[in-house]
Amino acid sequence: MTGQIQVVAHRGNSSVAPQNTLAAFEAAWRAGADSIELDVQLTADGEVVVIHDDTLDATTDATGRVDALPLAGVRAVDAGSWFAPAYAGQRVPTFTELLDFLVTHPGIDLLLEIKGDWGPDDVRKVTEPVLRAGLADRVIGQSFWPSTVAALQKVAPDLRRGLLIGELSDGLLATCADLGVMTCNPAGHLLVERPGLVDELHAAGLQVMVWTLNEPAQWTLALVAGVDAVITDRPDRLRGWLAAR
Ligand code: G3P
Ligand code: CA
Repeated sequence: MTGQIQVVAHRGNSSVAPQNTLAAFEAAWRAGADSIELDVQLTADGEVVVIHDDTLDATTDATGRVDALPLAGVRAVDAGSWFAPAYAGQRVPTFTELLDFLVTHPGIDLLLEIKGDWGPDDVRKVTEPVLRAGLADRVIGQSFWPSTVAALQKVAPDLRRGLLIGELSDGLLATCADLGVMTCNPAGHLLVERPGLVDELHAAGLQVMVWTLNEPAQWTLALVAGVDAVITDRPDRLRGWLAAR
């Protein structure tokens, strides 16, 4: 991640296809995104699925908590028709489907966000398949939960990892050092609140992937601040905007 700013498709290309579905990942790939960002949760029977919320309510035709249903129940719901009729039949992806997608789509990497406080046994459910598939150099694991990042550090110390932050804290650099993260990934508003933030993180040896910026004025701000990557719902537009500069 050197030189040119990286384009990271937030939940896939979620402006043109239902977020966190294979259709959105395919659209991100077609848009020329460098990476796909997505979110994983656990089902009632401990399987890993790709979905942002801890409920099905907003992005499927069903309701209720993801962790209240077994995998078969989550797989039975429709994750596409809420977005547009053309996407009816899209499913909540399994982790296996996601890795198959990566294998069949070289040239696009994965920024894997673990939602929630996962211990080592659950974290292994993502790290071991990634390592077995030979995809370690294409995956960065990240979380808002320092405890989850610590579990990543423990079970797969060689897999790159990042800490997401939605607010600033005094001990941030020390936390990043303790967790051995490669990236510290702030909300966009933090670049405004703390204009020197990216420089501070770079000086600590950290890369910076900012989220979630969808407008040219925000992209300009990120570029001037010197971020390494922009996470966006509009990877095609960001790609075009960067090319035109
Ligand atoms: O990866 C950064 C961003 O996705 C974090 O926020 O809520 O979209 O998962 P959220
Ligand atoms: Ca996310």
